Amino acid sequence: MTSNMWVNGEQTKTVSILDRGLSYGDGIFTTIKVIDGQCELLAQHITRLEQGITRLSITPINLILLRNDLVAKAQKHSTGVLKVMVTRGEGKRGYSSLGCDSPNIIIIAGHLPDYQSHQTNGIKLGVSNVTLGINPLTAGIKHLNRLEQVLVKQDIDEQEWTDALVLDCQGYIVETSMANVFWRIGNNVYTPSLEFSGVNGLMRQQVIKTLNEQSVSQNSEWASITIIENRFILNDILKADEVFITNCLMGIVPIIAIDNNSYQIGDITNKLSDVLNNKEES
Ligand SMILES: Cc1ncc(COP(=O)(O)O)c(C=O)c1O
Repeated sequence: MTSNMWVNGEQTKTVSILDRGLSYGDGIFTTIKVIDGQCELLAQHITRLEQGITRLSITPINLILLRNDLVAKAQKHSTGVLKVMVTRGEGKRGYSSLGCDSPNIIIIAGHLPDYQSHQTNGIKLGVSNVTLGINPLTAGIKHLNRLEQVLVKQDIDEQEWTDALVLDCQGYIVETSMANVFWRIGNNVYTPSLEFSGVNGLMRQQVIKTLNEQSVSQNSEWASITIIENRFILNDILKADEVFITNCLMGIVPIIAIDNNSYQIGDITNKLSDVLNNKEES
């Protein structure tokens, strides 16, 4: 996919320096994988944008037009990534959002990184020295205010890790710098609840949905698996039988080590990879 950028439908690289996305990270985003001209999980991406817009009380945008635009762009570009940002638009001086009712819709088309080796061989995680703040008001939203992830990534780059597990400032596991995390112990699959911190990823939601659907199906070999969302500390994951991380671009990626603890790539990771890696719109 060639690199291309649009603001409110117009091909351009620039937005106003008064845009509140720049001033305050006042906006939301989503990153869509495009394979063979099709947006993966497009309906879910649109729903997530809508939910983010509602939670931040940004003036609603025409999501049907946006959806059609994304479908058309995907068809033209065959394989790649469409990043969509919706900012509250221009503001005056100060935090108040009164009168800021012309959101900007920014779309960037880019290349899809090659995650084949991550998906097949797994990756090792460090444990970041940077911790995340807790705030139920913004937890779960994929908002543009990503300073914490910038700091986490600086730590990761310094340590020369591929990615790292990130805890909140109370010591609970949240996610990695760019993905949600799951682990299995026996028949239980665990994932951190994200009521205080973190991004509620679409691929995370797909994993939970898939495991729940499989466990109610009588014939399923996964029927005995229970998924548990809660707050967990580092020791909880270190005892895991298998660990994997998820996001929309990488899909399911096995974790083969956290610090000095090694893990085998497990059955649940492999089965979920079969079902969810390269999933078309549902
Ligand atoms: C910090 C963080 N957590 C989780 C995710 C996973 O989100 P999704 O599955 O929607 O790609 C991402 C994706 O970019 C992320 O940046």
